[in-house]
Amino acid sequence: MSLNIMADYILGIESSCDDTSAAVLKDGCLLSNVIASQQVHKDFGGVVPELASRAHEQNIVPVVSQALEKAGISATDLSAIAFTRGPGLLGSLLVGTSFAKALGVALDIPIVMVNHLQGHILAGFIDQEGKENRHPSFPYLCLLVSGGNSQIVRVDSPVEYTILGQTIDDAVGEAFDKCSKMMGLGYPGGPVIDKLAKLGDPLRFKFAKPHIPGLDYSFSGVKTSLLYFVRDEMAKDPSFIENNKEDLCASFQKVLIDILMDKLIKASRQTGIKEVTIGGGVSANSGLRSRIENEGKKRGWNTYLPEFKFTTDNAAMIALAGWFRYREGERTPLDVAPVSRMADF
Ligand code: KG4
Repeated sequence: MSLNIMADYILGIESSCDDTSAAVLKDGCLLSNVIASQQVHKDFGGVVPELASRAHEQNIVPVVSQALEKAGISATDLSAIAFTRGPGLLGSLLVGTSFAKALGVALDIPIVMVNHLQGHILAGFIDQEGKENRHPSFPYLCLLVSGGNSQIVRVDSPVEYTILGQTIDDAVGEAFDKCSKMMGLGYPGGPVIDKLAKLGDPLRFKFAKPHIPGLDYSFSGVKTSLLYFVRDEMAKDPSFIENNKEDLCASFQKVLIDILMDKLIKASRQTGIKEVTIGGGVSANSGLRSRIENEGKKRGWNTYLPEFKFTTDNAAMIALAGWFRYREGERTPLDVAPVSRMADF
């Protein structure tokens, strides 16, 4: 029997928000990762759930077909299907979940549900042919930062997670998005603010950091202080945003990164863990990436930054998280339903 026949081919399906994605892994190594990003939300300044579900419905079949084709396998080669059960938009999750179930039944192979956040946390383990493929060792800390979450998670194995701290109000990605909207810079705000921040002075404007006990975060206060500051300045000079947008973005991004880093450093000190990764959409932020690397050098951390293509929603991370669970013998019954919130890991 050849090694190829023994290999595990896992199809991953991700549809939690506005990206329809499918990926194929062979024994944990990525063969394909196809993402259809939905443009339909651009005019609305945010994701419209109803439109997202419809676009997933249109995209899912071609995206899965392309992922199989790029991987050079046919559906009958698959060993299992991993899919995002939650958290996310319920209508969007229903498309991926129902598709995974139907394909699992048609092929008579198991399905394995994945917590979307665990996918982001494991993004640093996605192996690719011809790449260095450095991985953190267990236990490690993951700063999970996205449009819906800001958490520090201790990871003891691919299936054991402890949330050490999390936001008590807005997620950091939300702070980026809302402030961008407030300044008329568009959606999603993170990439725009990141780009403009590179051209600005981060010390020009000061925004106060919140005092939250323990390892929890808060971002709503700093967002409100930007709102009031900009409102007051605009009353004096209607061109204030236009004339100062680079410095505003640089200063606002700096305070968000300071808040994130203070607690991450505290978490490392408290746990003694020096293996540190980041995950989630905001982990694409260039300022955050260089701060983590610089702090890591100063503090003797081993830092692992996911490739840009694995920072935002993608099925490669879902296939990988599912593969770890599949190897542990996990199988998901066919009466599984998606959930918009997954409180516990
Ligand atoms: O993980 P993700 O793709 O999806 C959800 O949370 O659903 O994260 C999206 C978030 C958005 O808030 C977006 O503004 C933010 O990630 N983001 C960034 C950057 N790229 C995406 N934030 C800061 N800097 C970036 N370069």
